[in-house]
Amino acid sequence: MSGFTVKYNELTAKEFILLWETVWGQAPSLEQTELAMKNTLFRVSVYDEDKIIAMARMIGDMGLDYYIKDVAVRPEYQHMGIGKMLMTELLKFINDNGVNGTDIFVELSAMPDKIPFYEKFGFSANEAQRLQMMYRVKQIIRRGAVWSEK
Ligand SMILES: CC(C)(COP(=O)(O)OP(=O)(O)OC[C@H]1O[C@@H](n2cnc3c(N)ncnc32)[C@H](O)[C@@H]1OP(=O)(O)O)[C@@H](O)C(=O)NCCC(=O)NCCS
Repeated sequence: MSGFTVKYNELTAKEFILLWETVWGQAPSLEQTELAMKNTLFRVSVYDEDKIIAMARMIGDMGLDYYIKDVAVRPEYQHMGIGKMLMTELLKFINDNGVNGTDIFVELSAMPDKIPFYEKFGFSANEAQRLQMMYRVKQIIRRGAVWSEK
């Protein structure tokens, strides 16, 4: 882990896309990602000199619910303790910002082979099923106003 630079809330949309493509393939658009970065509660990113090598981010309402998203370490930098550091930073963010003495619900989605990694930090799978869809945004622009199609 030593020799790398850790940054807080500086992860850019371009860096996010670059790392996403390295780890998962086809990335979301720049416009969508810029909006997502702007509205993310907390971002952690790690660099080897100027190269982005890891990231993680937290979305949520700060009071009751948090959701951990996009924990990723470049393949050639995995198994060096970087993923553990990312998770430690995310959980520290919750601890630093939550109401003292309360319990806060923290969720994430993980592929089965990654569950043991998250169990190390106290997560456990429950019986709830993950429901998902890719919602297609269709807006009609009329004289500058945006209308949503019914
Ligand atoms: C999952 C991921 C973030 C782990 O990052 P990493 O930097 O390799 O993890 P670390 O080196 O910090 O490992 C921390 C601990 O978790 C363990 N671990 C790491 N990956 C694991 C896995 N897939 N299953 C079980 N344990 C794992 C390590 O052995 C280590 O254990 P230790 O503390 O007892 O020594 C990384 O493999 C990754 O980015 N994968 C591709 C993207 C991805 O799938 N992200 C998760 C989305 S659900």
